[in-house]
Amino acid sequence: MNHDPIKRLEHDHVHLSDQVNHLRDWIQQVLREEVAPEHLEPKFTATLIQLRDELFHHFAREEEGLFPFIIAQLPSLAEAIGSLESAHDRVCGSVSRMTYLAQQGPVVFSEQFEQMVALFARFDANYGKHARSESELLRTLAEQLNHQQREELYQILQEL
Ligand SMILES: [Fe+2]
Ligand SMILES: [Fe+2]
Repeated sequence: MNHDPIKRLEHDHVHLSDQVNHLRDWIQQVLREEVAPEHLEPKFTATLIQLRDELFHHFAREEEGLFPFIIAQLPSLAEAIGSLESAHDRVCGSVSRMTYLAQQGPVVFSEQFEQMVALFARFDANYGKHARSESELLRTLAEQLNHQQREELYQILQEL
């Protein structure tokens, strides 16, 4: 078997990133005045709620399965894992605030659109940085694991 743990993690991140890309494109459409914010609100809110739920799930699975496995294999990576966990909290913080704002309805969504843009910009930057850091850490880790450990890592990632 030749299961690649990195490809597995990136597959999950691509799925999450697709939704982030939709939100970014829609915000750009409003900023270019192609769409009114109140018309964007229903699909933006629906996608945001789905993204929030999938992020919470993804992060919880990483913290329950992936991170303890990494620390058990390579205890020297504990500090790096701590930064990834802090990044989870930052990303969850901004996605929760965006969801709260979006759920106030189309009028508030429209009135507070600038606030949404600012929250999204921070979310987008933190999410992108986090996904890259995590892939890099996993790449470093995978190089140091033997065949059996790589398979174990692949199984953990498959369950994320
Ligand atoms: Fe993560
Ligand atoms: Fe992740």
